[in-house]
Amino acid sequence: MPGEQPVGQAVIKLNTNEHALPPSDAVMSAILSLSGEALRRYPDPTARPLRTAIAVQEGLSAAQVFVGNGSDEVLAHIWAACLANRRVASVDITYGFYPVWSQLYGSTLTQCPLRDDFSVDIDALLTVEEAVVLANPNAPTGLALTRSQIETLVAANRNRLVVIDEAYYGFGAETAAPLINNYDNLIVTRSLSKSHSLAGMRVGYALAHPGLVDGLNRIKDSFNSYPLDAVAQLAATAAIEDVEWLARASKVVIDSRKSMTEGLLAMGFEVLSSQANFIFTRPGRGSGLRLFDALRQRNILVRRWDTPRIADWLRISIGTPEQTRALLAAVADILDGAG
Ligand SMILES: Cc1ncc(COP(=O)(O)O)c(C=O)c1O
Repeated sequence: MPGEQPVGQAVIKLNTNEHALPPSDAVMSAILSLSGEALRRYPDPTARPLRTAIAVQEGLSAAQVFVGNGSDEVLAHIWAACLANRRVASVDITYGFYPVWSQLYGSTLTQCPLRDDFSVDIDALLTVEEAVVLANPNAPTGLALTRSQIETLVAANRNRLVVIDEAYYGFGAETAAPLINNYDNLIVTRSLSKSHSLAGMRVGYALAHPGLVDGLNRIKDSFNSYPLDAVAQLAATAAIEDVEWLARASKVVIDSRKSMTEGLLAMGFEVLSSQANFIFTRPGRGSGLRLFDALRQRNILVRRWDTPRIADWLRISIGTPEQTRALLAAVADILDGAG
């Protein structure tokens, strides 16, 4: 289940990893510039200008770019095209949709345990025969592998596919995208939901060898030839081209993440070293559930899972600097009250 989306309440919403800032002005101008004629007609089924804009940023060709209606849809097509009825390996604490797609598409999923410090056990994954799917940075831990660790994994067995889900691209982690030209067994997926503050627009993409992109297009065309509407294509192209906005907005999030991390550490919390737009943290004393409920009573929404190993941990999205201050003040108040 996705995180709660409250309607009409004044809440500080730090539970679904939306971006702290509104999207680029260039995106809003692009949407306003759209003509009625562009809506009367079907959109470009190949989303060529958007794929070209992405390719230019990544030093790739448009033939190496696949786009879809959010990275969830892109990942679902990857599952249908490449992983259906196969053995797939991932980790035990990660994005909740991987087991869902595995079940839907008849894959046998092996979930390698994260190490005690929540890092990915790359040595264990090197030895498995299965295709590998990893979120990098991982969610909900926020911990990231380096590009060279991912290259080791991709190079270890050229006959198996490695899918790196970079939904949290742009907040400090190294990307695996530069490896695409060298390895035809690697797919990197991205989302504009977090990095570009466009969760409401639903745009995601995959970077891969043209042969893999062809396969994804065949699956897509048998499902929906027009997954990206004309508004989304135009807005996403403007977002991708506004590289200054990405740099500026990411810095706000990274600075706010540092304040939140330092504030929680000062109050005795354990905080993992996040490279995403959220942090994963555990109170030094008291239960995670009690803190989650107490924050909720103060209209601050964060995310928690009722899973044994992480039941005391909270995932807190990075908000604006003001929201971070409000969160830290509320936590201090709750700890005071707990005596
Ligand atoms: C690891 C991971 N992958 C993929 C997604 C899907 O993102 P979207 O469909 O908004 O592009 C999410 C969303 O939270 C995520 O956390």
